[in-house]
Amino acid sequence: MRLTDCHSFHDFRRMAKSRLPGPIFDYIDGAADDEVTYRRNTSSFDSCSLVPNVLRGVRDIDMSVTVMGQKLALPVYCSPTALQRLFHHQGERAVAAAAGHYGTMFGVSSLGTVSLEEARRISGGPQVYQFYFHKDRGLNREMMARAKQAGIEVMMLTVDSITGGNRERDKRTGFSIPFRLTLGGMVQFAVKPAWALNYLTHEKFKLPQLDNHVDMGGGALSISRYFTEMLDPSMTWDDVAAMVQEWGGQFCLKGVMSVEDAKRAVEIGCTGIVLSNHGGRQLDGSTTGFGMLAEIVDAVGDKIDVIMDGGVQRGTHVLKALSLGAKAVGLGRFYLFPLAAAGQKGVERALGLMKAEIERDMRLMGCSSIADLTRSNLRFT
Ligand code: LAC
Repeated sequence: MRLTDCHSFHDFRRMAKSRLPGPIFDYIDGAADDEVTYRRNTSSFDSCSLVPNVLRGVRDIDMSVTVMGQKLALPVYCSPTALQRLFHHQGERAVAAAAGHYGTMFGVSSLGTVSLEEARRISGGPQVYQFYFHKDRGLNREMMARAKQAGIEVMMLTVDSITGGNRERDKRTGFSIPFRLTLGGMVQFAVKPAWALNYLTHEKFKLPQLDNHVDMGGGALSISRYFTEMLDPSMTWDDVAAMVQEWGGQFCLKGVMSVEDAKRAVEIGCTGIVLSNHGGRQLDGSTTGFGMLAEIVDAVGDKIDVIMDGGVQRGTHVLKALSLGAKAVGLGRFYLFPLAAAGQKGVERALGLMKAEIERDMRLMGCSSIADLTRSNLRFT
């Protein structure tokens, strides 16, 4: 299968599957428990239909949006995701470059495999830094100061991962960092020698956001121990309020799902919230970002930028979310499978296809700018 054969999310997913060792593919593709929420994320977009208008003069289409003070050429951005150099040796470098190429924002994870400073140098696009809350408050301050220094535009605190989700596919394969594969998992690596060769002939695996602060890279601390030992499950709104003050810039909470929490985010001075269930990877059976969007936009949409992610595979999914009042839409697996399939070229092709879909769909909807997308364009069935 070649990159030029990829025309949709499912094509990229298939190509990624053919290249990646099973345990790594399953880490990306998998979700919590029975993966009900994961599936529901995409199907939630089918709960409504688009109502197009015609004869509106749609030669020139402006797809730009402004979100958390950042002007983006596209209404979609690459959400922060972990461990990208495991998926393709270019890792975060590819995503930073592709996002910059399309004039959009991208996120670098605390569990990123390229430093946020290097990603900053590669991309002209605004950069989000995904952050976890550590027990050690000094460490939190140190990491924020480093991000400030690097010129990060948006701080994004993940609030839906107070404990790890139950990822049963990872349990079966033994996926963990450092690798502790089951026999079955090892066999799945052995049958993908091209991946192994590629991985072994590039620079050593590192977690540069954390390596400077905690001893992880040497394999002393696994990621699951990082979650249980270093992150603070007693984190409260007061703690986050102090962080928002300390950062003093664009600050966003990722994983807010209730109206009540959305209001609290406004109260403590956040400038954005991402309605997200972490790609179905945390609380299975939980509601979807798209499902909660209208209610939350109605409650706080005039005070804070409401963003959503989860299950986005099509331009029409993006248009539906924007019609309900989302300021932008995050992509996760949508760019990760292309990254795994073909590195930077893959991510660029995926973003290019998404851009073409959004532009075509806006024309077909009779909308020449994002502001033209309103609830009158939707019917819930
Ligand atoms: C995950 C975490 C690392 O979903 O964000 O795997």
